[in-house]
Amino acid sequence: MIKIYEDLIQFTEVLPVVNLACHQYLLTTKEPILFHTGTAAYAKELIPQIKKVLKNKKLKYIYISHFESDECGGLFQLLNEFPEAIPVCSEITARQLIGFGITSNFIQKLPGETLKNDEYELEFIEYPSEVHLWNGFIAFEKKRKIFFSSDLVFTFGNFHGEIRESNWEKEVNNSGALDISQKLVDDLLKINPKFLATGHGPCVKILE
Ligand SMILES: [Fe+2]
Ligand SMILES: [Fe+2]
Repeated sequence: MIKIYEDLIQFTEVLPVVNLACHQYLLTTKEPILFHTGTAAYAKELIPQIKKVLKNKKLKYIYISHFESDECGGLFQLLNEFPEAIPVCSEITARQLIGFGITSNFIQKLPGETLKNDEYELEFIEYPSEVHLWNGFIAFEKKRKIFFSSDLVFTFGNFHGEIRESNWEKEVNNSGALDISQKLVDDLLKINPKFLATGHGPCVKILE
């Protein structure tokens, strides 16, 4: 694990079969929020690292971009260890959590809604990443201007703690968003991130 940006910690699971690094992030505030869980097999490595960072604090939320093994495969184990943590997700993801018997205790958000306290304001943006191309989320933390890009801005390879520099328009154009929808591109260009906390590959510092 590594402190990658301000109070954001990055953890990394590497899937050797596909040579892919999958990142999870923990925002270490009074109400700590974890972004993604990694796979079920990796949960036993992730849980002690989270405990080490949290010390006596309780994990408050687990944000899930969409229902896939690297984004929430370890959710069942994490909820066993951190029973007070509440998953935050889209309606479609919530349906999967119930359907797979993982949990029925979650906070379900709509696109454009936020999860807000005095330390962060996380806005949820539609991201057609769920089964049948229904919407999951990508998320933008407005106070720190961190964009949690999930599977957009995607690079194969074994990366941990690495940051490259770029500009936002270029990243949007290269992100694959245009292949998904013009609306997604338009939604992305409305935000102004300073840092991209990617799901896979190096993170990105956005130059002015
Ligand atoms: Fe995914
Ligand atoms: Fe992913």
